[in-house]
Amino acid sequence: MVQIKVEKAKIDQKQTTLLVIGVFEGENDFSQSKELDPAVFASIKETLENKEFRGTFGSSVLVYTLGKGPMKKIMLLGLGKREKFVDESARICAGKAAHKAKELGVKEFSMLQFSSIDEGLIEAMTEGAALALYSFDRYKAPDTGKGPPSKVEEITILINSDSPKFQSIAERTSLVVEAVNFGRDIGNMPPNDCSPAQLAGIASSLAQDYGMKSRIIDRYELENMGMGGIVAVGKGSNNPPKLIILEYNGAPSDQKPYLLVGKAVTFDTGGISIKPGEKMDEMKFDKCGGCTVLAVMRAAASLKLAVNIVAIVPSAENMPSSTSYRPGDIVKMYNGKTVEVLNTDAEGRMILADALAYGIATYSPKAVIDLATLTGAAIIALGSNVAALVSTNKQLTDRLRKHSDKTGEKMWELPLYEEFHEQIKSTFADIRNIGGRPGGAITAAAFLSNFVNGVPWTHVDIAGTAWTQDGTFERSYNPKGATGFGVRTLVRLLAEDEKPQQP
Ligand code: BES
Ligand code: MN
Ligand code: ZN
Repeated sequence: MVQIKVEKAKIDQKQTTLLVIGVFEGENDFSQSKELDPAVFASIKETLENKEFRGTFGSSVLVYTLGKGPMKKIMLLGLGKREKFVDESARICAGKAAHKAKELGVKEFSMLQFSSIDEGLIEAMTEGAALALYSFDRYKAPDTGKGPPSKVEEITILINSDSPKFQSIAERTSLVVEAVNFGRDIGNMPPNDCSPAQLAGIASSLAQDYGMKSRIIDRYELENMGMGGIVAVGKGSNNPPKLIILEYNGAPSDQKPYLLVGKAVTFDTGGISIKPGEKMDEMKFDKCGGCTVLAVMRAAASLKLAVNIVAIVPSAENMPSSTSYRPGDIVKMYNGKTVEVLNTDAEGRMILADALAYGIATYSPKAVIDLATLTGAAIIALGSNVAALVSTNKQLTDRLRKHSDKTGEKMWELPLYEEFHEQIKSTFADIRNIGGRPGGAITAAAFLSNFVNGVPWTHVDIAGTAWTQDGTFERSYNPKGATGFGVRTLVRLLAEDEKPQQP
């Protein structure tokens, strides 16, 4: 991945191929660049005064220095109106700068701090640039090597502070971004190369590389253990289901762990209740909840967070075949409850329910968060840019919301009123696996709440946000495909837990 450094340097000192200078809209006094060579300064002044460039958000213009200064060229980058500028703007602008630099074929560039320095700014600039440069090209023919080198290898953020903490923030943030990009890599894998067994293999090597415990539970063991939900969903496919468990122990063993559960349906055809063909390819992203959970584990281990975390990723391929589970089937779940299957396309909740019940019974966690591309209804409710939260615990949800505001990974809560349970009552079993169209994202969560046994729990439906799709906002730092949504927010939440909590 690109290396990001932070350096204290004046703009007339840094030897660099490209210097990016952020300019706020309507602010063309440009006092900060008085140190530049007079000819370069005059050229920039002219550009600004001629209104060729007004600093509108995301716009840019290149100025050549013709050997007059330590930088080969300067890019003025529009930051938009100063009063609207927040960390998310810095993330987007840094991503734009990185894209431009890549287009220009530079290996190295520098960015002047966009606004007054603080930790949030350095984090956002680092994230924006490093997330934007992600690409998934392992299935493409390699470059001919004849064109200019198109990989940006090094970025320097030039700041006006001596404090060493900003360098360490850039380093920490880079580790988180590496984890996000790891999550994106698995999310983007095609379903023919990412069966549940292959995903389990990736998780095991991750555990080995980062000194975590891992355990993979196979189909027949799942059956013996009574995990009817995972077995039912997996049995229509020749690629058997797996339950992936990773443990990261960064705190003493008497501290209760967080439990993270992530849906990893490696391909969701809908099963016997088969989906229409249009965009079915996108159902390779139905594993993204699990990918986010694995990525969070990688980040926690590389940051050496002082918390204990258990990750459980139930993985299955939902296929129609003569061995598939069917509408009408009644399945006994790990916690003994029975589920009447009325739609085999509501498979995510079937596998999550077993994972939640098993994880809670086995590890007595202090809190549980699950992430899943669970319902189209979450997209109907909140669109493709906001994840839906449904919870049994206000404090946990408030914490997620607070961190989500910082990371730009938008999340909003839907209510789990008692009455929603009516919609999943079954004639022949304890509950049924669909609750009808009204409030579909909530009834899916109501279903899951049958398996959390009173432990503080928040469910995050990432159906709209896990990959770029219809209605996704343009974000420089989110290239097409899997976004790694949720990793940065969860890492912040877990890192916060290292510090003592307010009572
Ligand atoms: N993986 C899908 C949900 C989904 C659909 C995510 C589209 C992202 C985009 C899930 O397994 C599913 O099929 N859910 C059904 C539930 C229904 C049958 C109650 C849905 O949302 O239609
Ligand atoms: Mn489905
Ligand atoms: Zn699904």
